[in-house]
Amino acid sequence: MQKQKRENFSSKLGIILATAGSALGLGNIYRFPCEAGANGGGAFLIVYLIIALVIGTSLMTTEFIIGRRAKANPIGAFRKLRSGPFWPFVGILGVLCAFLILAFYTTVAGWTLGYLGKSVAGHFSGQDLPQIQQQFTSFTNHPWLPLVCQLVFLALTALVVARGVKNGIERYSKILMPLLLVIMVILCVKSLTLSGAHDGLKFFFNPDFSKLNASVLINALGQSFFSLSIGMGCLITYGSYISKEDNLLSSATSVTLADTLVAILAGIIIFPAAFTFGIQPEAGASLAFTTLPMVFQQMTGGYFFCLIFFLLLVIATLTSTISLLEVIVAALTEELHLSRPAAAIYSSIATALIGIPATLSFRNGSILNLGGHSLFDLLDHITASYFMPIGGLLIVLFAGWWMKKPDTMDELTNGGTLSLPIRRAVYFIIRYIAPVAIIVIFVSQMLK
Ligand code: PFF
Repeated sequence: MQKQKRENFSSKLGIILATAGSALGLGNIYRFPCEAGANGGGAFLIVYLIIALVIGTSLMTTEFIIGRRAKANPIGAFRKLRSGPFWPFVGILGVLCAFLILAFYTTVAGWTLGYLGKSVAGHFSGQDLPQIQQQFTSFTNHPWLPLVCQLVFLALTALVVARGVKNGIERYSKILMPLLLVIMVILCVKSLTLSGAHDGLKFFFNPDFSKLNASVLINALGQSFFSLSIGMGCLITYGSYISKEDNLLSSATSVTLADTLVAILAGIIIFPAAFTFGIQPEAGASLAFTTLPMVFQQMTGGYFFCLIFFLLLVIATLTSTISLLEVIVAALTEELHLSRPAAAIYSSIATALIGIPATLSFRNGSILNLGGHSLFDLLDHITASYFMPIGGLLIVLFAGWWMKKPDTMDELTNGGTLSLPIRRAVYFIIRYIAPVAIIVIFVSQMLK
């Protein structure tokens, strides 16, 4: 049996960029506005911020701790740190979750590629709202185009992962992520000058607490886990590539802040525009894909901005699909001793087998779409509302109660060299606050 050599990120910036690359993606620009729109705007935002900043940062740090301590994929990591059959099973659930997310994520990833093509061809110029909405419907209902885009996206992902994470991700993320931030700020400025800006901002920032209920809580929890790539072992895998000197808590905090900032920017772009053009905030999947082209229409140099935006969105999405496939590939190479390229090819084929029906389920009248509930929605719902919260709960319980405290603290403080009080507080969150919060939210949803 061949022993695989483990990779390492080359610098502190490398981890932050790679993790940010995983975190920033469709979850921020497509899914966050969709969820905020469907869950009452401001009230959702507040709950989301609390969960992301408190539980999200702690859980991200926890995944890094487990990964770096064990230097293994999620399945192997649990096995190394604690004997018995149960904990590796949590790793298996995580890998399964990555696989299910990748299947439906590549559906929307394919759309971004299609929309990049549309922006190159100038399909949005001079179009009014009904025409832009019609473009979304005809693209998602097209007999083969969304499937080709999805498969091309999956193939690109497999190509990068087959070559290895370090070469694959670090290099691309360095310039492109900051560039995405710049273009989003420009789009915000434009959106804020639109006539519906006041109403859009009111919807997004002014919390109406009467809208708060168990569904909003679980949706905010699921969205924060989805957006931060936590609760399924993705960051255990990345943690295993982090070197001993790096500061896990500060890296996790930087990534959480950047990810939250991008989600808020997406809201500031989308809601003012939606209120200006008369698009329902609850529009769902089409929200970002109809609102954004309408904003570009209003801008001087809209063609250029649209093109750059969709190009950057494709890349941000690619760094997320890479991280999802990496979870599966790391598990297959280490647990089943497959070569990287073979693992990347097999897992992409398996992903396509579920991903293709997910894409087809978007078509009007599809048999995979029962009463408005598509296979796509089902995959999205079970991963964000069940797999990730349960996975996240088990991960914090493991680090807080089953791992030896000196081991956890050793990783948190880099062998006692980093400041202790704040890390004690994080340990307290990992041990008590995060598990209780996740259980309360999860149970309140079940009892609803
Ligand atoms: N965080 C990514 C996004 O916001 O688009 C999606 C994602 C990537 C979820 C990796 C989970 C994951 F493991």
